[in-house]
Amino acid sequence: MPRESVLEAGPVADIGAMAASPYLPEAARVLSVRSLTAMERLFDLEFADGRALGHAPGQFVQVSLLGIGECPISICSSPTRPQRFQLCIRKAGVVTAALHALRGGDMVGIRGPLGRGFDVSELHGKDVLIVAGGLGLAPARSLIQYVIDERARFGAFHLLYGAKHPSELLFREDLHAWRDDPAVDFHMTVDRPDEGWRGRVGVVTTLFRELPPLDPQRTVVAVIGPPVMFKFVLLEVLARRIPQGRVYCSLERRMKCGVGKCGHCQANDVYVCQEGPVFTYGRLKALREAIE
Ligand SMILES: Cc1cc2nc3c(=O)[nH]c(=O)nc-3n(C[C@H](O)[C@H](O)[C@H](O)COP(=O)(O)OP(=O)(O)OC[C@H]3O[C@@H](n4cnc5c(N)ncnc54)[C@H](O)[C@@H]3O)c2cc1C
Ligand code: FES
Repeated sequence: MPRESVLEAGPVADIGAMAASPYLPEAARVLSVRSLTAMERLFDLEFADGRALGHAPGQFVQVSLLGIGECPISICSSPTRPQRFQLCIRKAGVVTAALHALRGGDMVGIRGPLGRGFDVSELHGKDVLIVAGGLGLAPARSLIQYVIDERARFGAFHLLYGAKHPSELLFREDLHAWRDDPAVDFHMTVDRPDEGWRGRVGVVTTLFRELPPLDPQRTVVAVIGPPVMFKFVLLEVLARRIPQGRVYCSLERRMKCGVGKCGHCQANDVYVCQEGPVFTYGRLKALREAIE
């Protein structure tokens, strides 16, 4: 695919910062690796040449290790914090296990940013509701940080987060900060508590009871989580008469190339790696296979 097509594929914060070819991994240095849970680690990275990643919230990169392989990972930090970028990686198989073995100072290959993220200019001036489930908090965090860093551009900011179990809660420092931030209406829950859990129990949709009435004319919603969550969250959102074109969902599909060549990510007639992973609900409805 020509470089221009990738650039046109989505809102990219700094087009000048894009790598020369979407096929060529660029060297990036691992600055630090922190464990978030037993399964997820947070990687701080910077390009060897010092350039900013230049992404939009919701975009992803392909991360590669020479001789091992490559996998798509969402960018979990905001472009408003451009000195470095962060990836939250769950150990799932061959490539992610090898990534978990890395330490500060090691190098990886990065292609991207790829895909279509959130067009944040569409969100300016609106009330924002973000609903994140499980590992979906990783891509959601890029948008959350963006809203917090650009807080004056937005109206009310509601954030709902659900995890299966307290041991699976991601970004605990952030959770505390969001809870204590008067500019964020933050609620979280777990499906199954442990002995020490004092918070809410129930699936993420139970948190909708905590929300004040939403103004359907002013509210934009982002839903980021496992496909099983979408249906139930969308029922809550649509019951509040939010227009379908202002409800955004981030979709995870199997991906290989990330640039519209291999067809691995195809849902109906769409390559999710190019047109997505962020779609409006109106568009997603046409891709029923993607959410069923
Ligand atoms: C757009 C996008 C964004 C993603 N963002 C993140 C992220 O922020 N953090 C994160 O930890 N993971 C993310 N993933 C999932 C991640 O890409 C997979 O976990 C990874 O490709 C597994 O590679 P592996 O070589 O370690 O596993 P493999 O050895 O290839 O497989 C191990 C297991 O993982 C499953 N798997 C393989 N590929 C995928 C895939 N693409 N999606 C889901 N399951 C897969 C396999 O079915 C198998 O059960 C994202 C995927 C996509 C498409
Ligand atoms: S991942 Fe290859 S076409 Fe989308």
